[in-house]
Amino acid sequence: MAISSKFGWGLVLTTSFFVACNESNPAIEASADASLPLGQELYALHCASCHGESGDLGLSGAKNLKTSALTITEIKDIIKSGKNGMPSFRGIIGTGHHIDSVANYVSNLHE
Ligand code: HEC
Repeated sequence: MAISSKFGWGLVLTTSFFVACNESNPAIEASADASLPLGQELYALHCASCHGESGDLGLSGAKNLKTSALTITEIKDIIKSGKNGMPSFRGIIGTGHHIDSVANYVSNLHE
């Protein structure tokens, strides 16, 4: 009896550990979704919190990316260096190839 109740608790603890782990790792979940193009996936992960999924949310003073008319080079500079209320994503998004993908995605949000 004593042994089986210890085993029961171990099982409960192990299960809740895995649940907590999944919840605190949105990055891993998002990158597991291979159906999204890289730029869109990175945008959803790093940018949509302020700019919104379609670019016009405007949270924390974020510029509307639908009406923004920046070149790809200018977009990449802002992603790498940040601007006023926008943090720099240098070293967060990863290699130049990743930044290129996000910048291309952002320039396509423009209507
Ligand atoms: C913490 C909120 C926040 C996040 C996250 C964020 N931005 Fe911004 N973004 C801003 C703010 C605020 C501005 C306005 C900066 C200014 O000009 O004062 C801005 C401006 C921009 C601009 C310039 C638009 C223009 O016409 O001047 C671009 C492009 C942009 N963001 C792209 C991105 C991308 C791409 C990401 C994700 C990698 C991102 N932002 C993540 C807040 C954010």
